[in-house]
Amino acid sequence: MPNRLDLPSDFRWGASTAAYQIEGAVAEDGRGPSVWDVFAARPGAVRDGHTGAVACDHYHRYPEDIALMQGLGLDGYRFSIAWPRIQPTGAGPVNPEGLAFYDRLVDALLESGITPLPTLFHWDLPQALEDVGGWLDRDTAYRFAEYTSVVVDRLGDRVPTWITLNEPFVHMVYGYALGIHAPGRALMLDALPAAHHQLLGHGLAAAVLRERGLGVMIANNLTPVWTAGPDPADAAAATAYDALHNRLFTDPLLLGHYPDLSAFGLTEDLGGAVRPGDLKLIAGPGLDGLGVNYYNPTRIAAPTDPGLPFSEAPIEGVPRTAFDWPVVPDGLRELLVGLRDRYGAALPPITITENGCSVADEPAPGGTVRDPDRISYLAGHLDALAAAVAEGVDVRGYYTWSLLDNFEWAEGYHQRFGLVHVDFDTQKRTPKASYAWYRDLIAAHRALQHG
Ligand code: FCB
Repeated sequence: MPNRLDLPSDFRWGASTAAYQIEGAVAEDGRGPSVWDVFAARPGAVRDGHTGAVACDHYHRYPEDIALMQGLGLDGYRFSIAWPRIQPTGAGPVNPEGLAFYDRLVDALLESGITPLPTLFHWDLPQALEDVGGWLDRDTAYRFAEYTSVVVDRLGDRVPTWITLNEPFVHMVYGYALGIHAPGRALMLDALPAAHHQLLGHGLAAAVLRERGLGVMIANNLTPVWTAGPDPADAAAATAYDALHNRLFTDPLLLGHYPDLSAFGLTEDLGGAVRPGDLKLIAGPGLDGLGVNYYNPTRIAAPTDPGLPFSEAPIEGVPRTAFDWPVVPDGLRELLVGLRDRYGAALPPITITENGCSVADEPAPGGTVRDPDRISYLAGHLDALAAAVAEGVDVRGYYTWSLLDNFEWAEGYHQRFGLVHVDFDTQKRTPKASYAWYRDLIAAHRALQHG
């Protein structure tokens, strides 16, 4: 059996974060409000009323955080750029102080030998754009491309590859269909235009990046879909769910068309959102890499609610994270092999852009944080990744979620995903046992390749 040390010699090791989850400084240096500032201020929206106002104070402490990355020996760091720092109202005037922050961050990373891998949109839309419809409005896609050109005009000389969007599926479903995340809209299937407009935004931004000779990626949340039972109705439900979660956001990019969503009562134009030429723009000449965010498989059964063509069934008999997510490392191998089988030559090289788990970590009296559950999660998933590579899937890198404990959206500071513990009262950073484990793994992998 291949294992994590068998990963290719040029394999890239990284860690991921996102702006609203770590930066804080939400009212500093001209940043405008984002949908997350407004949503988190709503009573009951986020557990215990937590907000990202301070988060990890990374905006001020980024040199210390880069030193932590250097201590791990990372090749790359995936972070996101806060659109409301760059354009406080989402359109028009550019805020020079916002650009200057990312300029400093990129330079500091490069000085430390770490390649920056920025995501242009990780859910913190300027509130001013939400006020005129957000991603339900087609115009937001054009604003996104404009913002992209502002950012890459400044940083494109030092940053070779860009991720346009983070998890458009999760943003559409949690933000616009269920209202669990910002902007807190509960439109159910009427949220579908938010899928198309995000993808259109991707296509328009990708054209801006390509014009400048830069690499284009997207980070999709993907899940292997398991059928709950032998009933054909379960299988039909699983096919429908797979179309919504996986294919809706990958088929148009790699195949140039939307999947069959007739089980949802939707036609191929997604309720009139799709205009002639859009799909050509979305697919463009292809992606330089597909970012895959993997956490767990999903088990699907026949519908129980008349509004949806599927229902979710529990996955039993496996360990669970503090977030209660099932731990199924082999699901990552299954997912990657499944992508290769589904898309064949149309599949670009893959990078795992997120994978990790939440653990209820607290420092022991001596100050150390032991997190054996995280270590076994990471080890299992990296072995599964190596197995997929051995089966012929082209995977170029692994960015774990996350470098630091951070603001976990609707869960506030309750879910800790970091390799580094953050005390949110004092901002003290304490590397956990998993930090040392990941550092040693990276070093051992390098030593094998060079020895
Ligand atoms: C993903 C998000 C990321 C983080 C992890 C736990 O869906 O992209 O920001 O919250 O989940």
